[in-house]
Amino acid sequence: MTFKVLAISGSLRKNSTNTFALKALQKIAPTDITIEIANISDVPMYNGDLHELGEPKAVTGLKLKIRQADAVVIATPEYNFSVPAVLKNVLDWVSRPPEPPFNEKPVAILGVSPGPVGTARAQYHLRQVLVFMNTFTLNKPEVFINNSAQKFDANGELTDETTQKFLLDQLLALKTLALRVKA
Ligand SMILES: Cc1cc2nc3c(=O)[nH]c(=O)nc-3n(C[C@H](O)[C@H](O)[C@H](O)COP(=O)(O)O)c2cc1C
Repeated sequence: MTFKVLAISGSLRKNSTNTFALKALQKIAPTDITIEIANISDVPMYNGDLHELGEPKAVTGLKLKIRQADAVVIATPEYNFSVPAVLKNVLDWVSRPPEPPFNEKPVAILGVSPGPVGTARAQYHLRQVLVFMNTFTLNKPEVFINNSAQKFDANGELTDETTQKFLLDQLLALKTLALRVKA
């Protein structure tokens, strides 16, 4: 049976290294694992007044995709030692009723940065946010992709084999966790 993963990148830019990492994951994944990268570009900034008018279409669509996925992978950049507003905003929207889809969802976190720490600080903030959302967040292996300029080529291809192996190991661990949760 196919294992369905929804991947969310916390960066909207075309040449996002975090999105490139998710694209690499699509290539690395075994054939029985499908990875869809969510489009979060249409999600508006959270505003309770807007929410009262009805859930925006982009949010309803994203919630459905999360619900239908066996697991979620989040690739987060690090902004000022934390989670970018774009990603936090999406998590805030989908955490609201009706039917918040992250409840008991297996989730893996990874992140890419040009610096030496590879988004570790942002990832630990993200883990805290996910505690409230009651996900089953994968503890290990952690994937901190640092010094991104040396790991991706000019076309955004992940060329670093060690990083490819980390990504595959994490994906397989996520599947194992999800199957345990299901059982
Ligand atoms: C507002 C802002 C804050 C940033 N803060 C950090 C930071 O705290 N730590 C870090 O490693 N990189 C920081 N960066 C650099 C990002 O890691 C870098 O832009 C990265 O490529 C963003 O991910 P992306 O390629 O997926 O867009 C920051 C970038 C921006 C725009």
